[in-house]
Amino acid sequence: MNQSKIFWDNAALDPDVRYKYIADAWASTETFLNLIENNNDSWNNVLEIGCGIGRLLVPLADKHNECNFYGIDISDEMISLAPKRNNIKYQEVTDKLDLVYSMLVFQHIEHQEKINYIKLAYDKLKNGGSIFFQFVIGEENSPYSYQTSQFEIEKILTNTGFSNLVFENHMHPQWMFVRATK
Ligand SMILES: C[S@@+](CC[C@H](N)C(=O)[O-])C[C@H]1O[C@@H](n2cnc3c(N)ncnc32)[C@H](O)[C@@H]1O
Repeated sequence: MNQSKIFWDNAALDPDVRYKYIADAWASTETFLNLIENNNDSWNNVLEIGCGIGRLLVPLADKHNECNFYGIDISDEMISLAPKRNNIKYQEVTDKLDLVYSMLVFQHIEHQEKINYIKLAYDKLKNGGSIFFQFVIGEENSPYSYQTSQFEIEKILTNTGFSNLVFENHMHPQWMFVRATK
């Protein structure tokens, strides 16, 4: 079985999963939610890549209850901990998305998988839809820690077809966030 899936499934079984594996002290849920909602120009369909236990997806779904939310994650154990909502579909993706976002995930996936997810987002977004995700700048590459450069991310996004790229730094000196439009 995929080593990363085993790692994250085991993490989900840790009683302290939320504090050890989901959010760090400097990464407040509220700050992430504010950043994500900054993109809101009346969503109908939103996808989170690597939604984990639904820390971000569930409050967004509760607040924007006319919108359909989709959450995918490598770990079914993580998903099993995520609260269920009528307007959330887990491990499903739809077409014509308005927004695809991903937080605290790209540092855990290898280069090619980053490309695959960015392509998936592009395929599933409607024209004019947005991608918004966080990644970690640096050169470290160890299991489950895959840093990258702004240049690399810029290259993948533009090669995929995204435009209007905006990079922002928040919460931690190595954390970059990028918004782009299909
Ligand atoms: C630090 S948690 C962040 C969860 C959520 N995005 C949040 O901010 O609350 C990282 C999540 O990424 C998921 N993940 C790791 N590798 C993944 C992959 N290749 N594809 C999808 N999800 C992945 C893990 O299972 C875990 O739920």
